[in-house]
Amino acid sequence: MNHENDASADISVDIDSFVDSLSLEEKASLGSGAAFWVTERTAGLPAVVMEDGPHGVRHQPGDVDHMGIAPSAPATCFPPATALAQTWDPELIERVGEALGTEARSFGTDVLLGPGVNIKRDPRCGRNFEYFSEDPLLSGRMGAAWVRGLQRRGAGASVKHFAANNQEFERMRSSSDIDERPLREIYLRSFERVVREAQPWTVMASYNRLNGVPTTENHWLLTKVLRDEWGFDGLVVSDWGAVADRVRAVLGGLDLQMPGGDAGSDQEVVDAVRSGELDESVVTERARRTVQLARRAENARRAHPDAALDVDRHHGLAREVAGRAIVLLKNDGDVLPLAADGRSVAVIGPFAVEPRIQGGGSSRVVPTKVDVAVDEMRAIAGSTTIAVADGYRHDGGDAEHLRAEAARHAAEADVAVVFLGLTAAEEAEGTDRPDIDLPTHQLELLKAVTAAQPRTVAVIVHGGVVRLHEVADRVPAVLDGSILGQAGGGAIADVLFGRVNPSGRLAETVPLRIEDAPSFPTYPGDQFHVRYGEGIFVGYRGYDRMKRDVAFPFGHGLSYTTFEYRDLHISAAGDDIQITVTVANAGTRDGREVVQIYVAKDDGVQRPPVELKAFRSVRLAPGESSETVLVISRDELAYWDISLHRWVVEGGRYTFHAGASSRDLRLSKETEVEADTVRRPFTENSTIGELLAHPVAARVLAAAVQQGAGQARSTASKELGIDAKKSGLRIPVGRVRSLSGGASLPKAELTRLLEAVNAESGN
Ligand code: BGC
Repeated sequence: MNHENDASADISVDIDSFVDSLSLEEKASLGSGAAFWVTERTAGLPAVVMEDGPHGVRHQPGDVDHMGIAPSAPATCFPPATALAQTWDPELIERVGEALGTEARSFGTDVLLGPGVNIKRDPRCGRNFEYFSEDPLLSGRMGAAWVRGLQRRGAGASVKHFAANNQEFERMRSSSDIDERPLREIYLRSFERVVREAQPWTVMASYNRLNGVPTTENHWLLTKVLRDEWGFDGLVVSDWGAVADRVRAVLGGLDLQMPGGDAGSDQEVVDAVRSGELDESVVTERARRTVQLARRAENARRAHPDAALDVDRHHGLAREVAGRAIVLLKNDGDVLPLAADGRSVAVIGPFAVEPRIQGGGSSRVVPTKVDVAVDEMRAIAGSTTIAVADGYRHDGGDAEHLRAEAARHAAEADVAVVFLGLTAAEEAEGTDRPDIDLPTHQLELLKAVTAAQPRTVAVIVHGGVVRLHEVADRVPAVLDGSILGQAGGGAIADVLFGRVNPSGRLAETVPLRIEDAPSFPTYPGDQFHVRYGEGIFVGYRGYDRMKRDVAFPFGHGLSYTTFEYRDLHISAAGDDIQITVTVANAGTRDGREVVQIYVAKDDGVQRPPVELKAFRSVRLAPGESSETVLVISRDELAYWDISLHRWVVEGGRYTFHAGASSRDLRLSKETEVEADTVRRPFTENSTIGELLAHPVAARVLAAAVQQGAGQARSTASKELGIDAKKSGLRIPVGRVRSLSGGASLPKAELTRLLEAVNAESGN
C-alpha cells in the first residue's frame, strides 16, 4: 500500500468544485473507507492509509485485521504514552513524534492513529498505558508536542478517543455521564489543547456514549464544540467499528466511517437524502473533508519523498526517551546507583530476561529489536558480576523452590535487583483490571529476597498504576520501570548504574489502595451508565480534596542529585503571568529537575486545592543554578462557568506554588488577578444581597426591596432564631413578594425593575 510519489496524482484539484461535480452516491461512498485501513481513492489522488499507532507504526501489508492479531512489519517500538508523559518534556516528545512521522512515511502510512489523550480517570482502565496522564495540562501538552513532531515529518495524527473514553469495561455500550464543568475542564481540555495548538489532520470519535449520545453521532461534541468553538478543520473519523447508525453519524458531524467495506451504510446515506431526512449539503461537506485529507496526504508524500527507517538511530532515541521516563520513587541510603566496581548484583525476576515493552491490543508494535535488561546491565557493569535467578514464573512453576533459589542468590550478592510487575495480557485494550495489586507470589518473593538481602532494589514493570506501598515499605529503593518500549532494558541498565540520572516524574498518583481513588464509588457504572460523580476532583485533584494519604503523589520523582528552589517571583507579562524561580543543583551529579507550578485559589468557585498550570524540565550541572521562567497564560486560570457556558477568569488573589511534586511545594507567592468582564444579568434568582452589593442595582432597588426584605427578616428572626440581616440578604429577590405576604414587589414590577437594573448596570 505504498503510494509514495504518485506522479499521476493531481494536487491542484479545486476541492469545492470537484466535490460539487460528484453524484450523491459518489459523495456518500467517500464517507466510508474502501477497506480496513484505507479510504476510497478520489479526485485522482491515492487512497489515504490510516494505521496504528500510537507508539510505533503497525503497518500491515494488505487489508488485514486490526487489534494486533495479524503480523505487522517491524518498526521502532517507542515508549508508550504512559512512559512518555513521565518525561514531562514536550520537546523530547516532539522528537519522538518526528521519528514516528518519518517511520510512518517510510511505510506509506499517511495517518498514524494516535495520540491517545484521554484522561486516566480510574487506575484500573486497561488502556491507561496508551494515555498520558490524569492531568489535562500534561496530557494536552504532551499530545500536542507528539502531533507537531509527527505532522512536521509528513504523517497526519488522529487524536483519540474523542471523548470521555476512560474505561474499557463496556466501552462500546457505556455512557460517560459527566457534568458540564468537569467535561470542559478535565475531559475535553486535553483534546482542546491538541486541536488548537497542533492542528491534527484527524480526530477519532470513540466507542462510548457521552451523556447518553454515542460520540460518533454527537452533534454537540463533533460539530458545536470541535468545529465551531475550537476551529478544527480536519476530518473526523470513527474508531474502528464505532458507528452504529451512519445517518445519525453524518448528521452529528462524522466525516469518515472506518473500517471500510460497508457499502450498505453508504446506501443508507443516499436513502436518507432521497427521503428528505438528510440534506445533501451535509453529505457534500463530509465528502469535501475526505478529499481534503487525500490532498493533504499527497502533499505530504511529495514533501517527504526520502523518508527511511533508520533502525539504529531510532533505537537510540527510544533508549534516550525511556531513560528519561524512568521514575526513581525511593532511594534510601543511596542504594542506587549501582557501582561498576567489582561487587556483585543478583538480578531476579522474568522481566529482567524477557522484557515487557508495551501493552496489549491495537497499539502492539512488532519491534525492530529488543534490549534485554540483564544483558544491558552486564554490558555496562564493568568488573561487577551479575547473577540471574527466575524468582517466579508468570505461569506458575515451583514457586517455593524459585523463591529459595532467588533468596540464596540475593544473600550471596552485595545487592539484589528484583523485577516485579504485570504482563501485557494483564493490561490490554478491551478489558480493565479488577484491581491494582501485584500478584501475591511476587510480593512473597520480595519478602524472601529482602529477608536475605536488605540492600534490594525493586524495578516495577507496568502500564497502569499498581499498589506499591507494600513494596516500598520493604525495600530501600524503587524504580518505576513503566513500560518503556523496545529499548527499555538498556534504559533500566543506564539508570541502575547511573549512566543516566533519573529525571522522570509520575504523571498519575499512586494511591495506597484502589478504594481511595476518587472514581472508586462510581466506576465502572451501572446499567450502562457511569456517572463521573467526583466531578472536577480527578486524580490528585481528588486525593488532595479528600486529604487522602497516597503512596506516591502526582509529579513525584527523585534524582541522584538534589535540587534547591529559591527566589520565586510573579509578574505580569501582558495579560499573562510570568513566574521566575531559581533552581540549583546542590549535589555532585548532572541532573534534571522538573519545576512544577501549581495554582490555588481559596475563595470563589469550588476548586481543587492545587492545579498544575506550568512545568519545565531543566538540566543542571553540579553546583549550577538557573533562573527558570514559566509563563501561564491568563486563560489557564479560567474555570468553566455553568450558567454562562463559557470560560471565566475570576478576579482576586491566586497563590502560585513552585515545587517538585503536587505534594512537595517548596515556594509560594500570591498575586492579584483581574476578573474577566462578564455579563451576568440579575434575575429573579439573584439575592437581595447580590443586588445590594452592586452600586447601580442597589440604588434602583433599595427602596423597592426594603419593605419585603424587612418582612422576610422579621419572619426569619422570629421563627427560626437566625441572623435576620444575613439571611434576609440571601433571599432571592423573586421570593420577596411571597415572603411579604404579597405586600411588595408584584411580578410585573419586579420584571420591570430587573430590566431597569440590567440596562443601567450594563448587564
Ligand atoms: C482502537 C483504536 C485503534 C483502532 C484501529 C480500535 O479498536 O480503539 O485505538 O486505532 O482500533 O486499530
